[in-house]
Amino acid sequence: MKKVILFADTGIDDMIALTYALKHPEVDLIGVVSGYGNIDREKALRNVEYLLELAERTDIPVIAGATRPLSGDDPVFFPDIHGAEGLGPVRPPIPEERYANRTNFSKLFQLIKANRNEVIIVNVGRCTSLAIAHYLSPEVMADVKETYLMGGAFNEPGNATEVAEANFFGDPIAANYVCQHTANLTVVPLNVTREALLTPREVNLIDSRSDSPLEELIKPILDFYYEVYQQLEPGITGTPLHDLAALMAALDIPGLFEYKKREVTVEHQGEFAYGESIADFRPGTSDCFGPNCVRIAMEIDQDIFVADVLEILTNHR
Ligand code: BDR
Ligand code: CA
Repeated sequence: MKKVILFADTGIDDMIALTYALKHPEVDLIGVVSGYGNIDREKALRNVEYLLELAERTDIPVIAGATRPLSGDDPVFFPDIHGAEGLGPVRPPIPEERYANRTNFSKLFQLIKANRNEVIIVNVGRCTSLAIAHYLSPEVMADVKETYLMGGAFNEPGNATEVAEANFFGDPIAANYVCQHTANLTVVPLNVTREALLTPREVNLIDSRSDSPLEELIKPILDFYYEVYQQLEPGITGTPLHDLAALMAALDIPGLFEYKKREVTVEHQGEFAYGESIADFRPGTSDCFGPNCVRIAMEIDQDIFVADVLEILTNHR
């Protein structure tokens, strides 16, 4: 079993990654850190709590993540893409009081210490909470086995700006810090996640097999997301499941990705390329090695992606 802690900004593709983690027979989801990003932190926390409640998994601790980027700037949210509450058309009931399983960073460190060299962190939102964890307790974070980030766009258009992807753009200081202070780091950028598509037909197939309140949310949420993406990228054939792709990288699915290893810098000072992810892919460069070396997913096999997603999301676990 892979012991996973998910760091999310629980919007639509985060929700799909969470659902997949809960349904995957090889994944033991031992905690979720939920912070600002697609929506504000309170909504992101509430969404996780709501989804875990639907899945009858309120035993999983929910850790309150960051509320704003390390620059101190006000965060920018994306209700147009993820819906007013972050889950498309779904409006989770507002809890009258905090859920019992909500906790703070001390729980995160406790989970890592209790599972030394076993924890896999999958960060699918802004990198702020993860950077804070590394800054606060590098000795505990050294016991994390592997880290996966959904973020960046290498030599490709971004989705937040011409050159920057939303997670890295949302807090480039944190993204840069994490890229330069994390051992065994894999980055899963837009280069592959924009091809991690699920078509409406495949969503309908998942829906026809759904047999729990959590699974029944998949179709309305992904239908909403598809409509948004059709406006953003006319002609797109499905919904890109960015965050799910990053989680799947952690599962070593044979043939799913091809990787290159490079040192990564995230531009966090410049005026024109703020949030851009930079690595050296010039001809003649090759895989790096050493502590600052990052594995970057560069190619995805769409058939393997779809087959795996359908298998996991239609099982009856
Ligand atoms: C990333 O940004 C967020 O909006 C998504 O949830 C995903 O993590 C895609 O760039
Ligand atoms: Ca996300």
